Amino acid sequence: MTTLNSQFDMDLQEVITDKRSVGMWRLLRGYRWLYSGAILGVGIAAFARTGMYLLLGYFVDGVLVNDTAQFTSFQIALGFIGLALIMGLFAFASGALAGRTSEGIAKRVRDYMFDHIQHLTFTYHDQTKTGELVQRSTSDIDAIRRFYADQAIGIGRITTLFLVNFVVLLWLEWRLALVSVIVVPFTITLSIIFFGRVSKAYEKYQEQDAVLSNRLQENLTGVRVVKAFARQAYEIYKFETENWEKYLRGKRLLLMHSSYWPISDILTGFQMLLGFTVGALMAINGTITVGEYITYAGLLLWILWPIRNLGRLIVQMSSGLVSFDRVMTVIKEPREPLDIGDYLPEEAVEGAIDFENIAFAYDDAPDVGVLQDISFSVKPGQVVALLGSTGSGKTTLANLLPRFYEYTGGKIILDGVELKRYPRSFLRGQIGTVEQEPFLFSRTIRENITYGIDREVTQEEVESAAQAAAVHDSIINFPDGYNTLVGEKGVTLSGGQKQRVAIARTIIKNPRILILDDATSSVDLETEADIRQALDNLMENRTTFIIAHRIQTVMKADLIVVLDKGRIIQIGTHEDLLAQEGVYQRIHDIQTQIDAELEKEIASVEMAVK
Ligand SMILES: Nc1ncnc2c1ncn2[C@@H]1O[C@H](COP(=O)(O)OP(=O)(O)OP(=O)(O)O)[C@@H](O)[C@H]1O
Ligand SMILES: [Mg+2]
Repeated sequence: MTTLNSQFDMDLQEVITDKRSVGMWRLLRGYRWLYSGAILGVGIAAFARTGMYLLLGYFVDGVLVNDTAQFTSFQIALGFIGLALIMGLFAFASGALAGRTSEGIAKRVRDYMFDHIQHLTFTYHDQTKTGELVQRSTSDIDAIRRFYADQAIGIGRITTLFLVNFVVLLWLEWRLALVSVIVVPFTITLSIIFFGRVSKAYEKYQEQDAVLSNRLQENLTGVRVVKAFARQAYEIYKFETENWEKYLRGKRLLLMHSSYWPISDILTGFQMLLGFTVGALMAINGTITVGEYITYAGLLLWILWPIRNLGRLIVQMSSGLVSFDRVMTVIKEPREPLDIGDYLPEEAVEGAIDFENIAFAYDDAPDVGVLQDISFSVKPGQVVALLGSTGSGKTTLANLLPRFYEYTGGKIILDGVELKRYPRSFLRGQIGTVEQEPFLFSRTIRENITYGIDREVTQEEVESAAQAAAVHDSIINFPDGYNTLVGEKGVTLSGGQKQRVAIARTIIKNPRILILDDATSSVDLETEADIRQALDNLMENRTTFIIAHRIQTVMKADLIVVLDKGRIIQIGTHEDLLAQEGVYQRIHDIQTQIDAELEKEIASVEMAVK
């Protein structure tokens, strides 16, 4: 097996901490120099801007008011152009560096998230809504990207702008400088209050957004059911209700954002008025020159701008942080350990399996024993049939073998070694399952058939697998044969065709242990006979579990296990079970009766035709 772990450059498990600021700092690893460059860039641009106001003051005092300047107007003009160029250049460079950092980090998180989701347990996927995971892999990661691209860099810009301008102002006239920052404590308090409230509102908004994308995803998957039951109006109503809730939460969030502005504007407005007045008074009584006053007016604007924006940024940062948390809760989920196990045979397994008092309950209902007291033995190469009413636990039992779920009591022994000692990846390489509801990817039929194997496959191999699954003839009748796309943009396969492609997919994998979960349920009897013939060849020397409802399918099995409510109620060969009074006999009688009636009917139709 090749693993493509190089696709992500950092193990995000290392990012997990209780403090998200620490986590976000760790996430920057590998980009810290680039990102420092971005912040330095905004710093230099801020310096250049301050330089322009100083130069303006110098020009007013030295050229316009007195004639004391050592530089010509032309030189001063060149200075302005130079500063403007520096400002533009560094602002651009900073944007480019921040862009590379934020896109790189977003890609890093996306890759890791996808990889991680692939490795989560069956139980996790049983309990998590698909839309929720989609939301966290897209919109939340984008909020993290914006955090680095705009907000964190914005904090850098704001801090340098503020510091540079404030220090220059201190140097220019320290009393004026102090008068100009009276508003700071008020703005910071205000933004902290808003930060908490916006965080909560944004979290609520994202939650609702996830509900909505889940509803959409489910509706699209189940669109045929909706149409079949003519429930469009109901679905639309449900969607609109959730969408309305999203609208309300979005409105609330926006309202909070926008109510911050007027308050902070009023505060900075007062500050500006105060600054200008005090500055003007100082200029009038000669404490500062006119040029200095003009410089001051510019600097004051660029001290207040950061103060005003700091609050906005702090408020906006909350979304990046909340999204970071939402992504991290998925990343924190433990992976299914695929390679853990102290027993790794070099060779393929023989396929001797003993079930010893197996008990099992699903995580979401630990008190409901889905399987209880399951005990039986299978020799290598034998065929075991599992029979039982719906919900009796057949699929569950089959799912224990590849360790999709872990049994909660008893033992399963494979070739003399307990199943839990085998690494899951090894077991899954040895076991081939044709699922009850096979899923095909929207790829070509060939890709679907060769899905389970990690090597070059010849066309002959693919075709012989398809022939064994009795689907070759259907495939060559499709427009592009084996290269026909399945699903949305290609052909839609019938239920039986899908099942047979899934059988071919398992056949080509050539597993030692075969599980056929209702694998021929959507196939007519004649085709089933063909497939069974092919499977009989395939099943030779392989341990096989067949789950089926038709007696004809199971009667040739070496062992038939009849389940009811998670317990074995009958066990034996076809002959043994027919001889006993019980469920098996009853099913047999009903089915043979139906078959006989069918035959009679067919015969009478044939008679009529003749
Ligand atoms: N992922 C799951 N999480 C929780 N409970 C489950 C899960 N899958 C199945 N169950 C429950 O376990 C019981 C056994 O289900 P199982 O799918 O094994 O039945 P089955 O015998 O395969 O039925 P069928 O013939 O309809 O396929 C059922 O009561 C079902 O509700
Ligand atoms: Mg089942």
